[in-house]
Amino acid sequence: MADEARSAGGGPGDQIPLIAVGPVAAPHPPRAHYDAPYRLFLGTSLALALFGGFLLAVLLPLAQALAWDWGTRWQALVQAHGQLQLLGFAGLFIAGMALRLMPRFSGRDIAFPRLVPALIPLIGGSVVLRALAQPWAGGFPRDAGLALSAALLLAGAVAFAAVVWGTLLQRESRAEATAWYFCLGALAYVAQAALNAAIVVEMVRRGLELAPLAKDEALIFVQLFGFLLLFLCGVATRAVPSLTGNARPDASSRAAAITLAVGVALYGVAAVWAAYRTPTQATARIEDAALLLVAAAFIAVTWLSGVARPRANRVARASQAPFHFVRAAFAWLVVAAILTAWYAVPALIDGKVIDAFATDAIRHTLTVGVVTMMIVGMGMLVVPEFAGRRIQHPGGELVALAVLAALNVAVVLRIWPAIDGVRWISVTRFWPMAAAGAVAIAAVGAFAFMFLQSYIEQRTPGWGSTDALTSRAAARERGERP
Ligand code: HEM
Repeated sequence: MADEARSAGGGPGDQIPLIAVGPVAAPHPPRAHYDAPYRLFLGTSLALALFGGFLLAVLLPLAQALAWDWGTRWQALVQAHGQLQLLGFAGLFIAGMALRLMPRFSGRDIAFPRLVPALIPLIGGSVVLRALAQPWAGGFPRDAGLALSAALLLAGAVAFAAVVWGTLLQRESRAEATAWYFCLGALAYVAQAALNAAIVVEMVRRGLELAPLAKDEALIFVQLFGFLLLFLCGVATRAVPSLTGNARPDASSRAAAITLAVGVALYGVAAVWAAYRTPTQATARIEDAALLLVAAAFIAVTWLSGVARPRANRVARASQAPFHFVRAAFAWLVVAAILTAWYAVPALIDGKVIDAFATDAIRHTLTVGVVTMMIVGMGMLVVPEFAGRRIQHPGGELVALAVLAALNVAVVLRIWPAIDGVRWISVTRFWPMAAAGAVAIAAVGAFAFMFLQSYIEQRTPGWGSTDALTSRAAARERGERP
């Protein structure tokens, strides 16, 4: 109860609200005077997911399975789905949480706090504009929309990187290895925004309906492996070891961050070179070798987190269910590493790049199995509304476990046709994908509903006061609903 009360506050004086049970190193004293508007980041992220990215995840496969004739708009909407999900849903969620956590683990105030509120309109506005302009508009409105969207993303990326670097690249920062993940991830964010701008300029100049596929692939790689996974692995290697009774790694964790970043840089350079010049056996082999580096980094991060070699279970009792999401995300990270190596080794020997089915399988193992799973699990563990929720709705484990099961089912259904590859090319392959989209939207919808409900409940004045907490605990002991 004391742990819950401490983690429920969310006030300026709290620590990273992920409190391990047992003897662990004390967190750094908080210095944050400015708290990022994490609720706005989370709210925007979840709205873009439910009404954008995940909605398209259901409609796009249905359109194929039911032979709706969407023409080339289908592929434009696939690209919109990718950007809405990577930068809108996952990107804004992870940026919001990173901004909230940085002062707590670095002991530094957020740098350039005035830039922070601008990030949501810049990045959110960019992906919405892109999703509207590319598939739906034509002529000048389309070109203007695309160009403005790319400019907003670039401005948002520079602002985000300035905040991250300004906060963590300080001698007094105590962010240790996490700073490496975050600073390199912010670099990848700027790189993807620059590449996106170059792609959009080409689309506008040549009147292309779609981003050229090879360039789009390179862009997605930097967004997913460079930005999202570097940040996610940074948070995981920071927060998870103390919960599994392991020491927090520093030098080895830095090495894992650098390995992942080098893999991303090598792949990005080779893929961009191949897309803008000529693809050769050498560029293909560099891409395959980079994939192997990335797979090695995933295994290293899983090992360093300690989930596979727990020495103790220091997760508070009420947080056990959300911690299963973290375990599941690491299990999918290992699956992604195995799949990546499985596809990359023969491709490396033959001097070819991995095919589109393999890319799709790895991509969705990571985006649904790792990124979405970790967002929901870590969200339930560290977002103050959820800590408060465990007091308000103590029997919530069953719902959490149902969401966990649903997300795992969604991953399996989504990657099954991709793993079958050329053996399953009839349109029936889109049915499991449509089902995956429906199950995933239900799971993320349940998470969004719980967040919103707890936010509304906890706005009651004095909700988190000691008196209110004590009287709710007493009511529960009497068997009444608090
Ligand atoms: C279960 C949920 C999901 C379903 C059913 C789904 C479905 C799809 C489908 C049907 C495609 C097109 C594949 C093709 O071209 O044949 C696609 C592409 C893609 N998806 Fe998903 N998706 C889901 C979740 C996600 C998530 C959570 C993310 C990111 C966080 C994501 C990122 C992408 C990306 C980056 C592409 C490639 C876009 C491009 O080609 O530009 N997806 N997805």
